[in-house]
Amino acid sequence: MIDVRNPADGFTSLRARIHALGDPGPNGCGADSAPLTVGEWALLIDDIVAHPESNTEPLWNVADPEDDDREFDAIFIGGGAAGRFGSAALRARGGRQLTIDAWPFLGGSCPHQACVPHHLFSEVARELDLARHMQERLWYPPFDEKRASILDVIELFKAGRGYPHAIMNWQSKEQLDMEYILNARATLIDARTVEVAGQRFTARNLVLCTGAHTVFPEIAGIGLKGVYDYSSLIEELDYEPNRCVIIGGSKVAMEYGSFFHATGCKTTILTRSPLMRTASLHHVDEGLRDYVIAMMADRGIEIVQDAEPVEVLGNGKVTGIRYRTADGHEHQIDTDFVFVGTGERPNLDMYAPLGLATDERGFVIADTHMRTNVPGVYAAGDLVGPPMEMFKARKCGVGAARNIMGEDYEFDYTQYPDFLHTTYEVTWCGLSEAEARNRYRNVIKIQMPPDDADPENFALPAAEGSMIYAFTRPILSGWLKLVIDADTRKILGAHHVGYGAKDAFQYIDYLIRRPEGFTMDEMAELNELFLNPEHFIQLCRLRAGQAMPVNL
Ligand SMILES: Cc1cc2nc3c(=O)[nH]c(=O)nc-3n(C[C@H](O)[C@H](O)[C@H](O)COP(=O)(O)OP(=O)(O)OC[C@H]3O[C@@H](n4cnc5c(N)ncnc54)[C@H](O)[C@@H]3O)c2cc1C
Ligand SMILES: NC(=O)c1ccc[n+]([C@@H]2O[C@H](COP(=O)([O-])OP(=O)(O)OC[C@H]3O[C@@H](n4cnc5c(N)ncnc54)[C@H](OP(=O)(O)O)[C@@H]3O)[C@@H](O)[C@H]2O)c1
Repeated sequence: MIDVRNPADGFTSLRARIHALGDPGPNGCGADSAPLTVGEWALLIDDIVAHPESNTEPLWNVADPEDDDREFDAIFIGGGAAGRFGSAALRARGGRQLTIDAWPFLGGSCPHQACVPHHLFSEVARELDLARHMQERLWYPPFDEKRASILDVIELFKAGRGYPHAIMNWQSKEQLDMEYILNARATLIDARTVEVAGQRFTARNLVLCTGAHTVFPEIAGIGLKGVYDYSSLIEELDYEPNRCVIIGGSKVAMEYGSFFHATGCKTTILTRSPLMRTASLHHVDEGLRDYVIAMMADRGIEIVQDAEPVEVLGNGKVTGIRYRTADGHEHQIDTDFVFVGTGERPNLDMYAPLGLATDERGFVIADTHMRTNVPGVYAAGDLVGPPMEMFKARKCGVGAARNIMGEDYEFDYTQYPDFLHTTYEVTWCGLSEAEARNRYRNVIKIQMPPDDADPENFALPAAEGSMIYAFTRPILSGWLKLVIDADTRKILGAHHVGYGAKDAFQYIDYLIRRPEGFTMDEMAELNELFLNPEHFIQLCRLRAGQAMPVNL
């Protein structure tokens, strides 16, 4: 057991060990009597992640019962987005928590294998696509298709991921005053008791936050070397792929496909349902979808819809994939790399003693208070199903904590703003145009470029991030739409493809979902920071003078 609690005897040897690992960097090298610095945490975590077999000791930060024998208000099993934010919320309200994670850091899958590498990959895709588009113009050199390496980008990520992990361990202990046991898998004994690192802990409540993992399709050859998902891609890829086939048609498929293709690894997406028309994505506007898919195709990504994967081919290692199309024909693609983005499910084996109620897909059922069917047991995050997004995971954890601490707090996550990346940042909230027309009799839209414009010659939108495209090939500069009920003048939905609009969508979503809504006239009264990425303010102002507004 490595005691990282307080500067004490064992701490000196821990620090000696950390120093032996190397230079702790600018934030490191604290005195022996000081708490671990971020730099020291980073070294320790990196060492444990790189050599798990020789680093089996738990990292322990639980007060000695002699110092503090108060009952725990809750044990959080899993210290990812749901568990860490829930724990912090409980501590902030004066409660006592214990957070347990199998990894040697808090924060969970997002900074280790999911959102953070995805954002790095998406930024790389955008840089590469621009460099390819602009090659031999301005200062851009000829684009060398062989220069960009998927392996190099993954190595860059792995070399740096220790710091976010370290910050979360440091912050959770030094600033948020949380108690935790890391690098140790929890076992459930009953609805009040958890065993970890050979000891049993009881609490008034349990909060289950153990996340989800990819469900691979059950087809022949899926276990071959050369088949990866977002997690094994980071941990196990050991060669440079030359050709990629992706199974899936939602965020992971589109985001990773856009990255792989941008690096020069020709990519085909095999999707069962039409791209972006999967049940897990709601309110996707058809105009937005058309633009996103057209621009993926424009970059050379091959998209095969109604495709059912039949077999991954290979002899020890992937050499191809066989799939069936809706007409019943089978096809084959030669490839050395298959990437699976077919969604996630939780593993509930450890919860067998509880008799938890689950839905037909295998997610834990929790009500709006995050309560499961077992009294005193709450569930949060990916464990309770879609949307599997950070806002939901964090706020579910916080919701469980607030209810445990005596509030009557409900969290409804049925409506939310959404986004994904291709080479673009794609954002949307509220209703799609088609949904709006089904519900309101007088719907108008503000759209750039308008439906009747030739997008190759219509240099709007033009804004931060898309200016070079607007001045070199206008169609690449993005797309936007605001959907409005002309009778009440309320904004019903907003949709954007481009760069830099995500922040705005967090606020637009809030404003348009207020009971009083948000009108185009109110939007027109805001003070835009020209050029702003989504142009909604100035475009609303152009129409706000009309008694009965029409399309723009
Ligand atoms: C590729 C990818 C990209 C994504 N990008 C985004 C994005 O850009 N934005 C966004 O909002 N969302 C994104 N998501 C979704 C987001 O990552 C998840 O919704 C979020 O991380 C879920 O948090 P969680 O706490 O439920 O689970 P996790 O963060 O997975 O935490 C679960 C924790 O439980 C621990 N655990 C499991 N079993 C045990 C045990 N027995 N004992 C102790 N500990 C245990 C694990 O070690 C883990 O740390 C992405 C997902 C993927 C797959
Ligand atoms: N915010 C972000 O940027 C971000 C990024 C990545 C991931 N995430 C989250 O992470 C979670 C996982 O994302 P995801 O894209 O992997 O999953 P997803 O949204 O659940 O989509 C799964 C895709 O795989 C297809 N599929 C499922 N089983 C299949 C099978 N057996 N054979 C062929 N195709 C199959 C589905 O097709 P059907 O539609 O036909 O079922 C769908 O297209 C999601 O909840 C997502 O919100 C968020």
